[in-house]
Amino acid sequence: MIEDQQTHEIPKSREGLAHIACFMGFDDVEAFSTALRGELDRKEANRHEARDALLEAFALDPRIGAGGAPEIRHVAIDPNQAGFSNIALQLVDEAGLRDHLEFYEEPSEMVLPRLLADRRRFDFAFVDGNHRFDWVFVDLIYLGRLLRGGAVIFLDDYQLSSIGKAVAFCVRNLGWSIEEEGTANEHHHWVALRTPLTPLQRDFDFFVDF
Ligand SMILES: C[S@@+](CC[C@H](N)C(=O)[O-])C[C@H]1O[C@@H](n2cnc3c(N)ncnc32)[C@H](O)[C@@H]1O
Repeated sequence: MIEDQQTHEIPKSREGLAHIACFMGFDDVEAFSTALRGELDRKEANRHEARDALLEAFALDPRIGAGGAPEIRHVAIDPNQAGFSNIALQLVDEAGLRDHLEFYEEPSEMVLPRLLADRRRFDFAFVDGNHRFDWVFVDLIYLGRLLRGGAVIFLDDYQLSSIGKAVAFCVRNLGWSIEEEGTANEHHHWVALRTPLTPLQRDFDFFVDF
């Protein structure tokens, strides 16, 4: 049960159902019930898919067994997880992976510099946060310092020019490469970037326009 204070019980009486069906523009209770069942089935399927994807992602690391390897951590940053009813945290809990999650309910521009100051190092990053150029740029620059050389960053919403520009800077000036590009649909693209094995040595006046 999601405790988002926007969740309402479906009325049990036919009269209550008829009231909601009419309020939501359905012709009758049957049409409303059919639409509701379809929607609930779709949501449940999405939830299972998300949980399976989560388990698969963690299972990629052979060191994680049932209750094992607590030192292996996935760091997640989202200042607005509560605005999504904490659904991601609930899924992690349901998958029994909460011990492997280090969650920060703060903006990435506040958390990433702290991780860097703490000398943390990571193997992979998935970025789907604030899409404005300055935020994505800051995310990428810090991740470039936090990831081990030759690591992959998966970046969503590559169709946005703000994101394309931030990537272009990293490719032209920092020696990153585009490993793969893909589309979820015509309005939704992603890109997988690879950082260089060792940071590019640049003269003080090195700059390639992007
Ligand atoms: C498009 S949603 C993506 C959510 C998730 N990746 C998914 O696919 O379900 C963008 C997310 O970025 C978060 N966000 C916004 N500004 C942020 C920031 N400065 N730092 C980190 N996350 C941020 C939002 O709260 C939201 O959860």
